[in-house]
Amino acid sequence: MTEYSSILVETRENVGLIRLNRPRAFNALNTELITELVDALQKFDQQDGVGAIVITGNDKVFAAGADIKEMAESTVVDRIKNDSIAILSKIRQVKKPIIAAISGWALGGGCELAMACDMIIASETAQFGQPEINLGVIPGAGGTQRLTRIVGKAIAMEMILNDRRLTAEEALQMGLINRVVPVEIYLEETLKMAQEIAVRAPIAVQFAKKAINQAYESSLSDGLEDERQAFYLLFGTEDQKEGMRAFSEKRPPKWQGK
Ligand code: HXC
Repeated sequence: MTEYSSILVETRENVGLIRLNRPRAFNALNTELITELVDALQKFDQQDGVGAIVITGNDKVFAAGADIKEMAESTVVDRIKNDSIAILSKIRQVKKPIIAAISGWALGGGCELAMACDMIIASETAQFGQPEINLGVIPGAGGTQRLTRIVGKAIAMEMILNDRRLTAEEALQMGLINRVVPVEIYLEETLKMAQEIAVRAPIAVQFAKKAINQAYESSLSDGLEDERQAFYLLFGTEDQKEGMRAFSEKRPPKWQGK
C-alpha cells in the first residue's frame, strides 16, 4: 500500500478508510494532503474487494479548511498554477460511495470536502461552517453551490456572509447530514453503514450514486430519462438476474459485481 505523509489509509473488511492526519494543523487541507487524498480515493475506487470509502479526521477536528498558511502570500498566478481545488474536485469522479465521518470542526474546505462526499455521519460535537469571509475570501470548492442547494439560500447566506456555524443537530434538521451519534461511536457507525453498502450489488450501487448526483446537475426530465436508461442497463448484469431469482427462491443473493 502507498505510503502517505498527511493521511492514513487502511481497509476494514470491504471498506477503504482514509484518515486526514495533520493533527497539529487541525487537518488543514494543504496541497500535499489534497493530492494524497485524491490518490487514495482513486486507488480504492479501483481496488477489488472495496465497495465503499470512508473519510474521517480525528475526534476533535475533521478539517479546519484549506491551509491558510500555505495560501496566505499567494498571488492569483500561484493559485491558478497550484489549482488544488481542481485536484480536490476529482472526488466527483469516484464511482464508489464515499461517506464522511465527522467529529469536531468541519470548516471552510473541510465543510466543502464533507459535502463532496455522498453521505455524512457526525458526532454530537461536529460543527459545520464556511468562515472564509473572515479571511477576506469566499468558499472555493463548492460552499456557495452545494451548501445552497442543501440548506437553501437563507441559511447559506447567513453561513457564508456572516460565519454562522451549524451544530450537528441543526445540520441534521437541514438535511446536510444523515445522522448524529455520540462521539465514541461516530466512526464505528460510519464504518458499519459503509460495510452494509459495500456488500450490496456493486454496479447497482454505482449507478444509483451517479443517478442521485445527477439530480443536482440536470433538469428533471433529463434526470428521469437517464435514470430509466440506467435501470434498463442493469438488466444486462448477472447481479440483476441473481437478485430477482434469489427473491423468488427466498434466499439471500450472492452478488458478483458482474
Ligand atoms: C492552517 C490552521 C488552520 C487552517 C487551524 N490551523 N486551522 N492552519 N490552516 N485552516 C492551525 C493553527 O494555526 C494552529 O497551529 C493549530 O491549527 C490549532 O489552531 P488554533 O487556532 O490554535 O486552535 P483553536 O483556538 O482551538 O481554534 C480552532 C479553529 C481555528 C476554530 C478551527 O483554528 C480556526 O478558526 N481555523 C481556521 C478556520 C478557517 O478559517 N477555515 C477556512 C480556511 S479557507 P499553530 O502552529 O499556529 O499553533 C478555506 C477555503 C477553501 O477553507 C477553499 C477550497 C479548498
